Amino acid sequence: MKFSTTIVAAAMALPMIHAAHHGKPKNYVFFLPDGYGPASETFARDYANWVDNATVVLPVDEMAIGYVRTKASDTLVTDSAAAATAYACGIKTYNGAIGVDDDYLPCGTILEAAKLNGFYTGLVVTSRITHASPAGFATHIWDRDEEADIADQLVGYAHPLGRVVDVMMGGGKCFFLPQSDEDSCRDDDIDLWSLAETEYNWTMTSARESFDSLHNGESGDFPFAFIPTMGHMAYEADRDPQLEPSLTEMAVTALNLLDRKSKEDDTSFFLFLEASRIDHAGHGHDPIGHLFDILEYNRAMLAVKQWIEEHDDTALLSAADHECGGLTLGVPDYAWYPSVLANAERTSEYYAAIYDEIVAFNYTESDKESLIVDKVFGGFGIYNVTSEEIAGLSVAPSVAIYLGEILAARAGINWSTLGHTGVDITLFGYGCNTEKMVGNHENTEVGMFMTAELGLNLKNVTKMLMANESFVQMIQPPADGKLLKRFQVDHEHDVMHAGIHKH
Ligand SMILES: *[C@@H]1O[C@H](CO)[C@@H](O)[C@H](O)[C@H]1NC(C)=O
Ligand SMILES: *[C@@H]1O[C@H](CO)[C@@H](O)[C@H](O)[C@H]1NC(C)=O
Ligand SMILES: *[C@@H]1O[C@H](CO)[C@@H](O)[C@H](O)[C@H]1NC(C)=O
Ligand SMILES: *[C@@H]1O[C@H](CO)[C@@H](O)[C@H](O)[C@H]1NC(C)=O
Ligand SMILES: *[C@@H]1O[C@H](CO)[C@@H](O)[C@H](O)[C@H]1NC(C)=O
Ligand SMILES: *[C@@H]1O[C@H](CO)[C@@H](O)[C@H](O)[C@H]1NC(C)=O
Ligand SMILES: *[C@@H]1O[C@H](CO)[C@@H](O)[C@H](O)[C@H]1NC(C)=O
Ligand SMILES: [Zn+2]
Ligand SMILES: [Zn+2]
Repeated sequence: MKFSTTIVAAAMALPMIHAAHHGKPKNYVFFLPDGYGPASETFARDYANWVDNATVVLPVDEMAIGYVRTKASDTLVTDSAAAATAYACGIKTYNGAIGVDDDYLPCGTILEAAKLNGFYTGLVVTSRITHASPAGFATHIWDRDEEADIADQLVGYAHPLGRVVDVMMGGGKCFFLPQSDEDSCRDDDIDLWSLAETEYNWTMTSARESFDSLHNGESGDFPFAFIPTMGHMAYEADRDPQLEPSLTEMAVTALNLLDRKSKEDDTSFFLFLEASRIDHAGHGHDPIGHLFDILEYNRAMLAVKQWIEEHDDTALLSAADHECGGLTLGVPDYAWYPSVLANAERTSEYYAAIYDEIVAFNYTESDKESLIVDKVFGGFGIYNVTSEEIAGLSVAPSVAIYLGEILAARAGINWSTLGHTGVDITLFGYGCNTEKMVGNHENTEVGMFMTAELGLNLKNVTKMLMANESFVQMIQPPADGKLLKRFQVDHEHDVMHAGIHKH
């Protein structure tokens, strides 16, 4: 067990205080745990209780205030893009939509409205920074997969309002590199990384030391981007702390940086945080990736809560965008053994990569098999693998999913889908006026509540975006693209099988 669950004990020791405010919060933090359904919370709590041999609650258990309904405009089961747009713009839209409505027209977001009102703004995530959730808060495009366009808008280059983000942290550097670079994910020659530095004054960094040079937010200036990885940042269970800070470290650093800068300039801030990869492990049926990203989300939520105790001008709301995987605890009847998960050191994706290496190497068949038993199954904490299970590996559509499901079956858990589900998810909050959100709400109401608390007006922003005709044209789908996207319900499922993690 390489992870401590001391967060749990720390949470219990905290008094349940809510900032005694009569006014409005000055700053807002919205924290999105992507793909975190109600069963995921029980799953992580039960594991923490087993590890600690005690009955404890998770930090977020103490911050629960309500439920959120998540359906999109075109389906009862939302994706991350429609959900992010619902939170950011306060409108229901179609799956795949980034900051646009059902007619592909741009909608002003809370982050943009904040920026136009002189606030400082931040996006801090563990997926690619160009992924659907952060994109929905700061950019506009008909399809979430247009990540190069999203990157262009994030730095201010193709955004009609100019640069609207002051600090961003997350993965996805490949979308900032020209196609001549072997790591590039773009199909044009734009060197966005350099352009951001020279034309838009960004400090663009990748090295862990550059993050550390922010000194927990005491140093550093805007605009600042820390993008350490080409693709998503690592799952918490696989993270190399020499290369990548944790989500908690990034969240606290961003909070301090935004707080210092906004006090210097007598303004407010809006910060979007995301525990992005809880969702990816749900799609991948990987209990280990899911578990440790959830525990890290809890650590980060506790850190934000403690920060707010010292800064009661700031309020926090947190809610997933949707459930993922249809996680069930107790399959078959009444079985659910968290102890089984304690022996795995890293994610199923990590052991699937080891499997690929073993298979690619010129070992004898019997050496191959013993290495697979030892390094792949054994590493993942499956010590009594059967010969049928070993044989199944070579025909599995995804080795990572196959491994995850074998461990899950031994733990007594199961997933019913490779996609999202339509169940309500939990709303968490802390600080000034958040208790007003008690109850069951549409995701759009969550966004509208934060907007009203900050005294912002999204319609004004929509009007400004709409006034730019060339922009409105640019973000429309190609003539043959509309129908294709709108009814591509199997989207998330397909990309999972292609081994690409896009959710
Ligand atoms: C777990 O806690 C119970 C009750 O506090 C105690 O009796 C038991 O010995 C503990 N088990 C372990 C493995 O520490
Ligand atoms: C419209 O938006 C584009 C970015 O897409 C920007 O380059 C251009 O300057 C804007 N036009 C006006 C008139 O603001
Ligand atoms: C970049 O910084 C320079 C010097 O501070 C300033 O004059 C310029 O307007 C800035 N450019 C942008 C796009 O913010
Ligand atoms: C693989 O190893 C065997 C025996 O060690 C050897 O005969 C064979 O040439 C090797 N094949 C390759 C492609 O290296
Ligand atoms: C392997 O061991 C687990 C306990 O860790 C047990 O529940 C499971 O039935 C065993 N599986 C096989 C195939 O022996
Ligand atoms: C687990 O769920 C899958 C569907 O994803 C189903 O096919 C399978 O039978 C379930 N396993 C058990 C043990 O119920
Ligand atoms: C929205 O725009 C109107 C008209 O331009 C303006 O009077 C109002 O102050 C704006 N509201 C906000 C919150 O920016
Ligand atoms: Zn999502
Ligand atoms: Zn997803």
